[in-house]
Amino acid sequence: MNTLYLANEQAIVNPNVLEWTDKITNLAYIVAGLLFILALAGLSKQQTATRGNKFGMAGMGIALIATIAKAVVNSINAGDDSNGPLVTVLLIVVAMLLGAAIGIPRAKKVEMTGMPELIAMLHSFVGLAAVLIGINSFIAPDEESEAIEAFHLGEVYLGIFIGAVTLTGSIVAYLKLSGKMNGKPLVLPGRHLLNLAVIVISLVGMGVFIAAGHENTTVAWIALVVMLVLALFLGFHLVAAIGGGDMPVVVSMLNSYSGWAAAAAGFMLANPLLIIVGALVGSSGAYLSYVMCQAMNRSFISVILGGFGGDAAVSDDREYGEHTEVSAEDTAEMLKNAKTVMITPGYGMAVAQAQYPVASLVSKLQEQGVEVTFGIHPVAGRLPGHMNVLLAEAKVPYDIVLELDEVNDDFADIDVVLVIGANDTVNPIAEEPGSPIAGMPVLKVWEADKVVVFKRSMGSGYAGVQNPLFFNENTDMLLGDAKKSVDEIIAAL
Ligand code: TAP
Repeated sequence: MNTLYLANEQAIVNPNVLEWTDKITNLAYIVAGLLFILALAGLSKQQTATRGNKFGMAGMGIALIATIAKAVVNSINAGDDSNGPLVTVLLIVVAMLLGAAIGIPRAKKVEMTGMPELIAMLHSFVGLAAVLIGINSFIAPDEESEAIEAFHLGEVYLGIFIGAVTLTGSIVAYLKLSGKMNGKPLVLPGRHLLNLAVIVISLVGMGVFIAAGHENTTVAWIALVVMLVLALFLGFHLVAAIGGGDMPVVVSMLNSYSGWAAAAAGFMLANPLLIIVGALVGSSGAYLSYVMCQAMNRSFISVILGGFGGDAAVSDDREYGEHTEVSAEDTAEMLKNAKTVMITPGYGMAVAQAQYPVASLVSKLQEQGVEVTFGIHPVAGRLPGHMNVLLAEAKVPYDIVLELDEVNDDFADIDVVLVIGANDTVNPIAEEPGSPIAGMPVLKVWEADKVVVFKRSMGSGYAGVQNPLFFNENTDMLLGDAKKSVDEIIAAL
């Protein structure tokens, strides 16, 4: 029987098995890669999103089975008399059980409104994995990596850098989104210079690390540890410098960073699927950040460099006067007399889970001949597409759910606008230069004949800015839980 030797001097019993395992795994990876591309394509439209998710799950299933099967077959085929294969299988099973034990209850418990925090936390795991893989890959390089030492060291260094930035950046995003850390931007003096200095020192460190390599491990370790500390700081600083209202862009940006961290891990592990998936996540996340920047009227470059919008944080202690309140019965009366109604939902609709009564209200109004449409702000809620998902869940027809650009010139023709749990996305202060949300496009609801705002108090929205809309003459406040208020309106109708 032919015998082959790996770097660690383990005998391979049958090289044919090794070759075939590689071929089959690569084929499975290609199928999984295609399924991931189909998943992304499906996720681009609400109508095909569920199918897209199924493609993604199938791809991940195939990838997992192929990777585990390869590890097991190679381990068995290594042919040593020890308990190698058994240990490999046991380790994989234990790791999967541990992950499932933490992940399943967490995912089951999470509310739709808590999704951004959960996603931010998951991104931090990708970052941590890239850092650990990088360190491991430096300590114990495989045979192929040793052959291309300088290139491999570059991969390791970059992988650890991207992973560390993603790790702390995502932790700060998690803390901010879950309200465990103040949402106000941290504005350190000379913050852009500070970021630049970290990048320059890290680049110099990369040269030192590659030059020292495995010849002079002490120097290499010093360069690696210095960079690790700096990259951890950079991740923290990039996200801490971003203010409340701009967090949506940060979430998609970290999504992109986590993709690049995964791709870097793929290079270090010589795993083509991880490279493909990382590149897909990295580039789609970058494109989403770009789209979000356009929606928020922010510069893409300044987002990547971090801390945009922070300088504009000025306090607003103006007196806006008295607001007027309205009852659910009077709102029902107002709606009966209206010909055109537009609903602009926000985060409060998600909190109250008011999408189901809202859908019933829409049907009722349509039966009475009222023309109803929805105006959706791109960052309403806490997730890209959050409102669209909720409305689709409640079976609101897609064709009456319109985007900000499609409706923003039409408010003057609308009789009644129902602002259901939205605040920042309908705040006219965004049109004032120097305000904390200056430049962010908002739904111009105040141009309608009448506006009714559904919320529980006169408190501010996510960005912590008072909303002058509430004090306009044509605005009435319907205070209380949004679901309860909509139910009462339906009863009165
Ligand atoms: P927000 O500005 O967050 O305001 C939501 C309003 O809902 C609050 O003022 C709150 O007022 C009200 N509310 C909460 N629970 C309610 C309930 N049970 N019934 C009725 N009202 C309730 O909402 P928005 O207009 O959707 O804007 C979204 C904000 O989140 C933006 O600043 C955006 O930048 C940020 N953000 C978005 C994302 C994404 S990707 N969409 C991610 C992170 C952050 P009361 O407490 O008085 O009831």
